[in-house]
Amino acid sequence: MPSPNEVYVKCDELDNVPYPNKENWLFEIELLKKELSLNASVLQVGCMNGTRMIALLKARPDLKITGLDMEKDMIEASKINLEKLGFKAELIHSDITEPQPVSGFDYVVCLNNTLGYIPEQEKAIENMKELGKTVILSVYGEKFTNKLAQEYFKSINLELKGIENNVFHTKEFVNIKRYTEEEVEKWNGKIIETPIGYFCIIKQ
Ligand SMILES: C[S@@+](CC[C@H](N)C(=O)[O-])C[C@H]1O[C@@H](n2cnc3c(N)ncnc32)[C@H](O)[C@@H]1O
Repeated sequence: MPSPNEVYVKCDELDNVPYPNKENWLFEIELLKKELSLNASVLQVGCMNGTRMIALLKARPDLKITGLDMEKDMIEASKINLEKLGFKAELIHSDITEPQPVSGFDYVVCLNNTLGYIPEQEKAIENMKELGKTVILSVYGEKFTNKLAQEYFKSINLELKGIENNVFHTKEFVNIKRYTEEEVEKWNGKIIETPIGYFCIIKQ
């Protein structure tokens, strides 16, 4: 059985995942490049091993990025990967559903359907809103079909047990959700369709 870390790292290995997932990941970066204001402070929730922070800093070296992840190994890996390339970012080892020691970010971003991995997602969104002025949630939607889901989960070392009400039950360790347009509309943000989901910008 793969460990959570073996699975998560695979989410950002773009040549390993099906093309629509890769396209979606890259589309998110393009949207962020345009959306984030100059010199903004950005908190990435679920920063994993730093791959996304590095991609963002390459595209937008003006940004002040902080990464947050609940897996200690992921925070350690982020530190090593950032340092190797000479990038600087703050790192926080924490669960987003718990109260946080920081706040005041210009943006809080949660990408690549990371929200779908968090069981207490209402609490997670509430906390993200407390941490930053603008919250950006990017999730998978109806275009992440059951067939694509089978391929994607296989590519990240997860096996599906079943699908129920847009929740993918995996044999390994976690249930993962995809979202309907109606659900995303309830977040009251500006919605931009991505190749397989929705990018929702919630300004407060
Ligand atoms: C799908 S991966 C992230 C994808 C990726 N970093 C990206 O930008 O495309 C999910 C990450 O979120 C982290 N995570 C899951 N639940 C979390 C929580 N409640 N609080 C903080 N991090 C969490 C996991 O440890 C994992 O590194």
